[in-house]
Amino acid sequence: MPIRAVVYASEVAEGLSIEHLQSLVADAARFNRVAGVTGVLLHDGVRFVQYFEGPEDGVASVYERVLQSSSHTGLVELARGRVSTRQFPYWSMQQLPADQLLVGRLARADWSRFKISEPENIAGSVWGIDVLAAAVAPHVQAA
Ligand SMILES: Cc1cc2nc3c(=O)[nH]c(=O)nc-3n(C[C@H](O)[C@H](O)[C@H](O)COP(=O)(O)O)c2cc1C
Repeated sequence: MPIRAVVYASEVAEGLSIEHLQSLVADAARFNRVAGVTGVLLHDGVRFVQYFEGPEDGVASVYERVLQSSSHTGLVELARGRVSTRQFPYWSMQQLPADQLLVGRLARADWSRFKISEPENIAGSVWGIDVLAAAVAPHVQAA
């Protein structure tokens, strides 16, 4: 079954509270579990970068919900495409702590390649997918 993936950056809507964000992520994780979608959400207080992947119909319905959400604005799609296997299968959706440097790097990175590099090539890589993989790795080991 082909796996589709989407990654985007957006800006937090004005006045979004921590409580609202927490319930949004819990709601997202519930929906994604049913849709067979997995991924990660990075949030630095100002911006979001989210990556999600799964079957085509699941990804399409999640993306529709994301696009409809009034909790963020200025969504910019960084990449959308096919991946041969799931690259972030760990959580149906998980918010990870991120600073502005990391979110900025992700938002500006080159996403024209969607496959994580070999482990020895990830450090210092210019590909967005590798920057994301390096940011996610410590949380996977801790989980
Ligand atoms: C940054 C962000 C990420 C989201 N991620 C998902 C997701 O992975 N899956 C999903 O079903 N909905 C996702 N949503 C939608 C929310 O779960 C929720 O349905 C929506 O925010 C509710 O509408 P509202 O934001 O207009 O109150 C996301 C929304 C935002 C702002």
